[in-house]
Amino acid sequence: MTARRKIGVGLLGAGVVGEAIQDALLGGSQGRVGDDLELEVRKIYTRNPNSKKWFKHRPELFTSQAIEVIDDPTVEIVIEALGFQEPGDLAIFRDYILRAFEKGKSVVTSDKAVLARYGAEIWAAAQRSGGHLRFEACVGGGIPVIRSLTESFAIEEPEAVFGIVNGTCNYILSQMEKTTKSYAEALKEAQQKGYAETNPTADVSGSDAEAKLMLLSAVVFGLELQPGTTWRKGIEDIHAVDFRYAGRTGSSTIKHLAVAKRIGSSVQVFVSPVLMPRGNLLADIDGATNAICFNGTKSGGIRRDRDCDYVLVGPGAGGGPTAVAVLGDVCELARAQPAWFTGLPSLVQPGRLALQPQDDIDGSFYVRFIVKDRPGIVGDIGQTFGALGVNIAEIWQLRHSDDERQALARSYNLKENFKELLPFVITLERATLRQVRAALDSVRARDYIVVDPVWFPIWGVR
Ligand SMILES: NC(=O)c1ccc[n+]([C@@H]2O[C@H](COP(=O)([O-])OP(=O)(O)OC[C@H]3O[C@@H](n4cnc5c(N)ncnc54)[C@H](OP(=O)(O)O)[C@@H]3O)[C@@H](O)[C@H]2O)c1
Repeated sequence: MTARRKIGVGLLGAGVVGEAIQDALLGGSQGRVGDDLELEVRKIYTRNPNSKKWFKHRPELFTSQAIEVIDDPTVEIVIEALGFQEPGDLAIFRDYILRAFEKGKSVVTSDKAVLARYGAEIWAAAQRSGGHLRFEACVGGGIPVIRSLTESFAIEEPEAVFGIVNGTCNYILSQMEKTTKSYAEALKEAQQKGYAETNPTADVSGSDAEAKLMLLSAVVFGLELQPGTTWRKGIEDIHAVDFRYAGRTGSSTIKHLAVAKRIGSSVQVFVSPVLMPRGNLLADIDGATNAICFNGTKSGGIRRDRDCDYVLVGPGAGGGPTAVAVLGDVCELARAQPAWFTGLPSLVQPGRLALQPQDDIDGSFYVRFIVKDRPGIVGDIGQTFGALGVNIAEIWQLRHSDDERQALARSYNLKENFKELLPFVITLERATLRQVRAALDSVRARDYIVVDPVWFPIWGVR
């Protein structure tokens, strides 16, 4: 039997993920992996050592100076499991990673925000130094998404990668559908159960999903995107009434998706709620689970009526699953001869495909209005939209009880008499984002519009 190889690991971060990593490496198996490896924690950085649970057992491991972890000559792999509180924190975290490469170390991170913001710089530094960077935990938490895409599909011509990448949004939407809770009630429950942060903005605004989508777009399509350049919609304006319309014949639900889809030589990239037909397998992904679909021309396309060839499903967050993904990366590096070159692993050579301009994104759309009821409204909207080349496909009008209208008025904090409120939905035939935005702008100021229309794409097959 060969002797166990000891690898020195330095840990930046002692939050949910950092603690789960400590549990795995300092508890039970003491960092032993199989017969061949022992991951030995040499130093842990946290600003607040005394408050951390492992401190009393192993106080000598803790430091409040990140540099001491990075510069420790016995540390070969630096794990960065920090979470930003202020946007300015990300530059500090980037500097830690760059310093680790300068010192000749490899880095494993769970921090998608720092890669989304400074990815190009970080990859360049990894390549310059010959160090390795792994980031499996950044997308889909414990689900092996990055390794599956970049290694198992290495010879694929990718068509699309899309899915549910934010468990908080999926949990809130699932609860709204199942229990008819309002958005605010479902969010509160998610916070109580630990699925949503006290400040849930990054999740519910879609910016967390955007960061993950940027990484997926990079590894699948070779796109180097900057935060804020893609079309992004969160879930904050979805109301219980939208689920009534979505499920009106049991036909659809609402899911928050991250989507990157090849269209010729460009890639359509967006994060948005979508109206999802019930038959789609993503429609049944419940609670905090994540699910990422991949389509490629070489292996896919057998069933063109189904829009997902491969799907990876599992726990998209949580200390345990995320720590497993982080430590899987560490083991891969520790067992040496890492399969990847030091640059960004990508199925398409970076620079070959371009980002499709937001305005050109096209599809069918769901638009929900709440108006002050009076004759001629649908005609006015139809005419105004039609003049801009946007055609209405269907008009959906449900019966709404007084209780429902009252709840709607309450949730929007409306002064209007609830009896006058009329919710209804129109679906639009295929149109571009430019057209839909222009059409909505043209009716927004009408005196019958009570709240800003809620709109998002209708998910279609391929
Ligand atoms: N939780 C999950 O399920 C999950 C899943 C996948 C990926 N991630 C990612 O993994 C990372 C860590 O997540 P987490 O859930 O462990 O977050 P967390 O519990 O909020 O912990 C955040 C960590 O970052 C440190 N930190 C925050 N602001 C800092 C600053 N300005 N300077 C230095 N350190 C700072 C904290 O330091 P102190 O110890 O000093 O307080 C703490 O150790 C995040 O990037 C997150 O997006 C999390």
